[in-house]
Amino acid sequence: MNILLINGPNLNMLGTREPEIYGSETLSELVAALSSYATDTHGVTLRDFQSNIEGEIVTAVQDARHWADGILMNPGAYTHYSIAIRDAISSIDVPVIELHISNVHAREEFRHTSVLSAVCLGVIAGFGRHSYFNALDSMVRHLKS
Ligand code: DQA
Repeated sequence: MNILLINGPNLNMLGTREPEIYGSETLSELVAALSSYATDTHGVTLRDFQSNIEGEIVTAVQDARHWADGILMNPGAYTHYSIAIRDAISSIDVPVIELHISNVHAREEFRHTSVLSAVCLGVIAGFGRHSYFNALDSMVRHLKS
């Protein structure tokens, strides 16, 4: 089983970016821990991709249709307005779980809207770094069922 993890804009800044909201772990530390967990606990392979550029995320989603069984995506701020990423998700048969570190519904009003959720398998938000692990568990459970 091959799972793609996509992190959108500013998630490369984890560790130093608003640590009171996003924690102090860097993205590479988080990805390393999640990759080990994926292999050791579920026997699945995790590939990761981060970009601050909308079009690169669109291309990564499109390309994933050739090899990935599922996609975990923290789209960052693109969550709230990227119709291009929404259309890319709709274009492929691979299930996508939208995930967020913070509870977007407990924050500013502009974060309450996601243009992506309706075309995703599900949404996980507000569990800090555990949102990634919960999303992986849910995807594996979905793919095995
Ligand atoms: C985020 C929430 C978004 O609103 C924000 O723009 C991010 C991170 C989260 O993981 O909590 O960049 O997706």
